[in-house]
Amino acid sequence: MSDISKTLAWRSLAADFAAISASTTGALFKGDAGRFDRYSVEAAGLFLDYSKNKITDEVVENLIALAREADVEGARKRMFSGDTINHTEGRAVLHPALRDFSMRDYFVDGENISPAVRVELDKLRAFCDGIHTGMRKGHTDKPIDTIVNIGIGGSDLGPQMVVEALRPYWLDGRRAFFVSNVDGQHLHDTLKDVDPETTLFIVASKTFTTQETMTNANSAKKWFLKNGGKNKNIAKHFVALSTNRHAVESFGIDPDSMFVFWDWVGGRYSLWSAIGLSIALQVGFENFEKLLRGAHALDEHFRAAPLADNMPVMLALIGVWNRNFVGAASHAILPYDQHLHRLPAYLQQADMESNGKRVTSDGTSVSVATGPVIFGEPGTNGQHAFYQLLHQGTDVISADFIAPAISQSEIGDHHQKLLSNFLAQTEALMCGKTTEDVRAELTSEKRPKSEIDALAPHKTFPGDRPTNSIVFEKLTPETLGALIALYEHKIFVQGVIWGVNSFDQWGVELGKTLAKTILPEITGLGEHKPEIDTHDASTKGLLNRINKLRGDAK
Ligand code: F6P
Repeated sequence: MSDISKTLAWRSLAADFAAISASTTGALFKGDAGRFDRYSVEAAGLFLDYSKNKITDEVVENLIALAREADVEGARKRMFSGDTINHTEGRAVLHPALRDFSMRDYFVDGENISPAVRVELDKLRAFCDGIHTGMRKGHTDKPIDTIVNIGIGGSDLGPQMVVEALRPYWLDGRRAFFVSNVDGQHLHDTLKDVDPETTLFIVASKTFTTQETMTNANSAKKWFLKNGGKNKNIAKHFVALSTNRHAVESFGIDPDSMFVFWDWVGGRYSLWSAIGLSIALQVGFENFEKLLRGAHALDEHFRAAPLADNMPVMLALIGVWNRNFVGAASHAILPYDQHLHRLPAYLQQADMESNGKRVTSDGTSVSVATGPVIFGEPGTNGQHAFYQLLHQGTDVISADFIAPAISQSEIGDHHQKLLSNFLAQTEALMCGKTTEDVRAELTSEKRPKSEIDALAPHKTFPGDRPTNSIVFEKLTPETLGALIALYEHKIFVQGVIWGVNSFDQWGVELGKTLAKTILPEITGLGEHKPEIDTHDASTKGLLNRINKLRGDAK
């Protein structure tokens, strides 16, 4: 794999940054009437404005040249062709096949996977119909009205984020809960709110071996059996979503109550597969299908649009510019839509598990910084929490501002107020406020000179904080699907440029293994164990302290 930092495009970008670093983004707007039109793109119901980044035409040209040097177009083709691009796990990456209703065929190792996708989707549809019409009932013949999705990571964040985002589409009388944490309080608190006779537990796990999910699923099963359920009733109240049929059977879930997906669907890219069952049950299968169709529209755009007009490509390239040249090590996701409150958490996994890598695909160390820290909260809440640092902190943090023009629940002028904040923040982050302006303002307020001198530095904003704005008409299943697909492809393109494999996640393994070693060393409540003498001194000290507290517990 060639070193991206040695390419002509990379070196040109470094020179571009040096050339424009003294000017400001605000100044770049002056005398350039076409900047907004040139640096914005529209696709699949989404509009992206990236003009508030510190870029020039040369920068954009060199970013596109960089994409060419990294062979983004070739990588895109290889992904859609089913090549084994996740080579450390020996897998293809074909989640777009799950949402392609155009009857196009996709192949993995010479096998056409599309018929199986359609069969599984039909099975999901039939299952949803059974639940929604009341044909499929609980063991006491009451209709199922509650679902508890038990999963973690991609088997939780995606479906949960979508269910929350599509709240206005929830079917009447239906409730959805998500249990992910192995902290028993999560399951305990949920079980207090549900009725075993009317609840369906959806055990969602690609591998069906994940400690948290299996522990929660086993405890849920015990609770069900203790609360009126019999072993023979399990099929009516437990379904599994997995690629691992054998493990599902061993758990005690009937294979007929299992919905499958495939190893070419990465965990964090799986909400489009059977893992989306909780979505379909909560918002209706039709809306689930619309979500898939929205994502497909963005896929079609990503496949066909030239690089310069390609929304995920441009979003990715601007991200590379900010990460590697401007030096932004963190990136904020700031949805101005309360229903998107889980989007930052969802994108944290999607992005950080994909591109948080320090070796390139061929195992050599990367020569440039890779994935940034992703964080965020909905606006305007974040404005009253961490935006202070975005505006005046010592680090430059890039951000995506996301907003629908029309709210799903227009009440009075709430949405106008929300949108005015959405626009004001990106303007303020870009333009900042000079010390001269601050002084002039304080002077006009007739403040004494000593006070002006003291306050001016605190009230000065450096500006030049890069932001993207993504707007769309309304948060519908279609726009949400497109929005998620936009980020999926952005992450993929960045991975290609940085030369990393965005589809494995070996970095999560070490902690899992060590936790297994430590588990038998933690005492039961009221049990005293001899002091543990293994591990490093800190881990040993903490372990013995915890064991003492647990042993002394009344
Ligand atoms: O530990 C990380 C991870 O493997 C994620 O990639 C995945 O989304 C999550 O765990 C859950 O995995 P599974 O669906 O196999 O339970």
